[in-house]
Amino acid sequence: RVAGPCVLVLFGVTGDLSRKKLLPAIYDLSNRGLLPPGFSLVGFARRDWENEDFRQIAYESVKAHARTPFREDVWTHLSEGMHFVPGEFGDPGAFDALAMAVKELDESRGTGGNYAFYLSVPPKFFPQVVEQLQRSGLAERKERQWRRVVIEKPFGHDLKSAKELNDTVHRVFPEESIFRIDHYLGKETVQNILALRFANTMYEPIWNRSYVDHVQITMAEDIGIGGRAGYYDGIGAARDVIQNHLLQLLALTSMEEPTSFSAEAVREEKAKILSSVRVASDLSLATARGQYAAGWQGGVSVQGYLEEDGIPAGSRTETYAAIKLEIDNRRWAGVPFYLRTGKRLSRRVTEVAMVFDRAPHLPFSHTDTEELGQNALVMRVQPDEGITVRFGSKVPGTSMEIRDVNMDFAYGESFTESSPEAYERLLLDVLIGDPPLFPRQEEVELSWKILDPITEYWASQGDMEQYPSGGYGPESADELMARDGRTWRRL
Ligand code: BG6
Repeated sequence: RVAGPCVLVLFGVTGDLSRKKLLPAIYDLSNRGLLPPGFSLVGFARRDWENEDFRQIAYESVKAHARTPFREDVWTHLSEGMHFVPGEFGDPGAFDALAMAVKELDESRGTGGNYAFYLSVPPKFFPQVVEQLQRSGLAERKERQWRRVVIEKPFGHDLKSAKELNDTVHRVFPEESIFRIDHYLGKETVQNILALRFANTMYEPIWNRSYVDHVQITMAEDIGIGGRAGYYDGIGAARDVIQNHLLQLLALTSMEEPTSFSAEAVREEKAKILSSVRVASDLSLATARGQYAAGWQGGVSVQGYLEEDGIPAGSRTETYAAIKLEIDNRRWAGVPFYLRTGKRLSRRVTEVAMVFDRAPHLPFSHTDTEELGQNALVMRVQPDEGITVRFGSKVPGTSMEIRDVNMDFAYGESFTESSPEAYERLLLDVLIGDPPLFPRQEEVELSWKILDPITEYWASQGDMEQYPSGGYGPESADELMARDGRTWRRL
């Protein structure tokens, strides 16, 4: 899989995402020989830069964040195709200059009139950028050429704004040209959920309400909001990651087998399952949230959310969210799916844990089985990528004591191949025009439909529970589980 001739135009090239993820991913693709010979990258931003400044910034970010080793020849080749166009997102002159620049690249580098536009900009600029792409003729293509537009999350703020955003983009680009990025779908371990379920026989028979007691989906982070106050405040944990990453994990874990791995078939099944998801009517019992307070992390004292730079006094944005969902279909009726995410927790871990029913009868004495929990199959998304099966085993010795043990699969031990970074995989898919890993609008809207009642309920509530940084999250999240006689998996 190698991309054909094209130009990638990166809007918002001075942002965090570009520097940490996108520019290094482009270098890694080039290093792996997956970009076409004349591949060109045009950066567009409100900076008074020359091409050389852009190349220097890109060089630094590649040096700092690329996954593959630095090779001077690869860098030289890539940087020759890098250009910068300065401008405001609403400035027609700047877009005319952009149109000229890509046209020249078509002629000088043989990029064939194929353009991908990556909008790594705050959503409020989407309408302007899309409008200018249309006005400058950049969105228009001749026969056999292609245009693709890549949109970074958040896709709106709620269902209504997501629909408006979609209409804006659709006025210029058809659905098949729109690539909505959810970088979790670019992760190997997330794609492996489908491989585990549908390339094997031993898991599917027990993957249902007859054997599964409940499912826990966790995305815990040890970091705080860093320098992202402007983005994060008013958005919060539920909109930032549950609406997209966690609901996508839920969909992949619970959906039926698609008829093929085509974009349509996979998205069809995801949309079907998301439309069966239900949140309990009493939201006070089925949700919990909190905000990190000062605390200790890795032996370092860290400040609370309200003390972070750029956070308004008294902000009620949640940095931790837990919700309980149910799925109304034959496979999952009555099986709760608990989702939780939070910043400044004790450690970074993302996993999906299927927790199975207890054995209906144990012929062992109670004291022998005190350390026996429930069977679990844990898909470890990161950072320790792999799969764990947890089950009871006899403790070596002269009595019949039983204790939980783990059977582990670790990527590093089983594969010599290195995993591409999520953005690397997704960027390649965009340039090739391969859409299965990109959510379609229907999924985005269904996810907002699930979340909207929850965020509305929270907005109507008073104070925000604080939880100490470096801990396990707010007490109300533990209480949510305790009401159901369950506990969260240990972080
Ligand atoms: C992003 C969120 O989508 O995912 C961030 O906006 C979060 O708040 C990040 O930190 C986590 O990504 P990853 O790949 O490190 O799990």
